[in-house]
Amino acid sequence: MKTSSKAKEFIDLEEQYGAHNYHPLPVVLSRGERCYVWDVDGKRYFDFLSAYSAVNQGHCHPKIVNALKEQAERLCLTSRAFFNDSLGPYEKYIHDFFGYDKVLPMNSGAEAVETALKLARKWGYLKKNIPLNEALIVTCESNFHGRTITIVSISTDQDARADYGPYTPGFEVIPYNDVKALSALLEEKGDNIAGFLVEPIQGEAGVYVPDDGYLKTCYDLCKKHNVLFIADEVQTGIARTGKMLCCDHEGVRPDIVILGKAISGGVLPVSAVLADDEIMLTIKPGQHGSTFGGFPLACRVATAALEVVKEEHLAEKAAHLGNIFRGEMKKIESPFIKQVRGKGLLNAIVIEPHQGKEAWDLCMKMAENGLLAKPTHQHIIRFAPPLVITEEELREAVEIISSSIQSLG
Ligand SMILES: Cc1ncc(COP(=O)(O)O)c(C=O)c1O
Repeated sequence: MKTSSKAKEFIDLEEQYGAHNYHPLPVVLSRGERCYVWDVDGKRYFDFLSAYSAVNQGHCHPKIVNALKEQAERLCLTSRAFFNDSLGPYEKYIHDFFGYDKVLPMNSGAEAVETALKLARKWGYLKKNIPLNEALIVTCESNFHGRTITIVSISTDQDARADYGPYTPGFEVIPYNDVKALSALLEEKGDNIAGFLVEPIQGEAGVYVPDDGYLKTCYDLCKKHNVLFIADEVQTGIARTGKMLCCDHEGVRPDIVILGKAISGGVLPVSAVLADDEIMLTIKPGQHGSTFGGFPLACRVATAALEVVKEEHLAEKAAHLGNIFRGEMKKIESPFIKQVRGKGLLNAIVIEPHQGKEAWDLCMKMAENGLLAKPTHQHIIRFAPPLVITEEELREAVEIISSSIQSLG
């Protein structure tokens, strides 16, 4: 893939003045609309990453952008030192939308995860009567919950974790998709366990879809041991997997739901923690917060973004198009494709390196052919287009993926 001199200028600036904490594909984007993005040279691409599933409603959705503009001209930020006329209506909207008593608004996904962990500990001490400073939270191997010190403390990915110690204590890590491991741990230490934090599908790990019934069985085990079932739906939530929440596939209502990314349609960093009063009201004034959390701009944008999900039936679309996508991927005959997996429009193919070519090479080839996707863990490519993509566009994108694979050999 050729990089133009114009694109190179921007890449060089990032290289010289930005921290080197990412390794992007050499594409410089300057505009987006629906499922498309354009680079600085005017070339159009299908966006099959959607900013890691933040842009479910499509780039620059006019309804969301208008909400942003209108509110930006009126009032952006008040902090929570005062009331404002956006937060209350937003909180009621979230209550009606997801059916939880309360929402605690934050900004990034990682902050929302931290909030859920704090809530679980508070609840553990105040409601479950766990002896002070002895609360445990159970997490899963290969998880991805963000980048804070506590969150990398529970990571099993050496890249994410190495050299950031000392690590936060109070966590137990068990294998993912392993009901027996959870059951044994709950039997052994259940009295001190406040919560079980789980991704309904492990997105960053490479779209690992657990066995059918896994979430429900884990939920039931948690109930048996009076442990909070905490679903990190930052990547899987907001219609991505074909239901509003991924846990809906198994009829599970988590005790705590963590949302981020697409709750704002990718327009602003907005995240949220949902829980009922018994849990949420354990945190009192002064015990948690954020200057921007629930700022008026975020409230208006997130409300509009959620309205779009409903009005445009994005969950149903994701379910329907996801079936088509996986069906088409499975038809491709190539030594590169080891496995196709996913749910709704959160999918991945596992790549078998062939003739010296790997997932990165395929991503470069697809970019050349007008489709952007990114490898995760070297041998897996995630495919997660904006949910507003049409069936015709999806089939066009499938053609690009297929011909790119065939042209690699
Ligand atoms: C499941 C999950 N949780 C949390 C996060 C962290 O979100 P953020 O990058 O907004 O902090 C991510 C990000 O990819 C995620 O996929």
